Amino acid sequence: MLDIQKIRADFPILSQTVNGKPLVYFDNGATSQKPQVVIDAEVKYYNEINANIHRGVHTLSQLATDAYEVARGKVKDHINAKFAHEVLFTSGTTHGINLVANGFASILKPGDEVVVSSLEHHSNIVPWQMLCEKTGAVLKVIPIDENGELIISEFDALLSDKTKIVTVNHISNALGVINPIQYIIDRAHAVGAAVLIDGAQAVPHLKPDVQELDCDFYAFSGHKMCGPTGTGILYGKETWLNKLPPYQGGGEMIKEVTFEKTTYADLPHKFEAGTPNIAGGIVLGTAIDYLNEIGFDKIHEYENELLEHATKRLNEIEGIRIYGNTKNKASVVSFNIDGIHPYDIGSIIDKLGIAVRTGHHCAQPIMNFFCIPGTIRASFSFYNTKEEIDAMVDAVKKAQTMLS
Ligand code: ALA
Repeated sequence: MLDIQKIRADFPILSQTVNGKPLVYFDNGATSQKPQVVIDAEVKYYNEINANIHRGVHTLSQLATDAYEVARGKVKDHINAKFAHEVLFTSGTTHGINLVANGFASILKPGDEVVVSSLEHHSNIVPWQMLCEKTGAVLKVIPIDENGELIISEFDALLSDKTKIVTVNHISNALGVINPIQYIIDRAHAVGAAVLIDGAQAVPHLKPDVQELDCDFYAFSGHKMCGPTGTGILYGKETWLNKLPPYQGGGEMIKEVTFEKTTYADLPHKFEAGTPNIAGGIVLGTAIDYLNEIGFDKIHEYENELLEHATKRLNEIEGIRIYGNTKNKASVVSFNIDGIHPYDIGSIIDKLGIAVRTGHHCAQPIMNFFCIPGTIRASFSFYNTKEEIDAMVDAVKKAQTMLS
């Protein structure tokens, strides 16, 4: 069992009041809060070893470089990559996906196909649309059903030897649905397609094993897993990363530059042009340590309890509709109340100290499918409590009364 009060004490922001009420933070899908160890590690970096990395013989530069590479090693171990050089630091999931989509411009030919799903965040749609425009490839979309689940028979039917890459999220940001990615990876590989998994919403809840999954790329953000904003990781299989061209040109990513020709650095540096978020990368390692100390098995078990409690309590509200009714769900509840705009509920409950996200959640195709402008999304983390869920349910009921 988790000692939730002890865990909550690790997060200074959670003891705040907002609009005169105790903060109830249920916008973890957008970004997680940060424990004191993460905040301290960021300060310690700037107080003690701030210098640019991989660029100097001086002691501080070496200390910063070592710390950055230790963090890369922590990520490698965490996701069970085969090599540390398969772990690229990025600014976030969006950066990682764009890096891969950009690289595929040199691979795709007119008529080739890219498969995405209807459950994607815009950042796993738009880069592929841009790629298709550039190359003449065709975008194919896996549809969803009323429960918000991918229609797997339709996915099977989309696959052919024209399919060059399949890209889906591990967990839907808008609905919390967990996708059958192992099946998707295996089936895509059977037709020779590469697979990218958008793990942005998965990594706060589970520990992906990229070798077991056998995915070709796995992108995620640091800030949703207790790390700093502006940090992220793109895992790529060595063979794929060697095949793709660099994403950005600049310092760090070269072997030799002359005006006639430039040769590129080995992995991972080929994809890490420019001074990165050094402190952020190092501190992402601290965040991963923190989460592993708590333990993903315990996190999973507890968040499931929160999900069950929230689903049961919210279903007491007359006129509620929850989107994403599947057995395999992360601790996210996306809902609407009959006849009331989600924004209105969100604004009223904010006055009661409750932070949820309202709107289309950067997933407009899902909203279009359900013919709604958006939803109210409560996304829970291991530091949330059932009492907070009860406070949200009371607040939503109050808002409903005010708005009816
Ligand atoms: N992608 C983040 C969310 O779902 C920002 O809220």
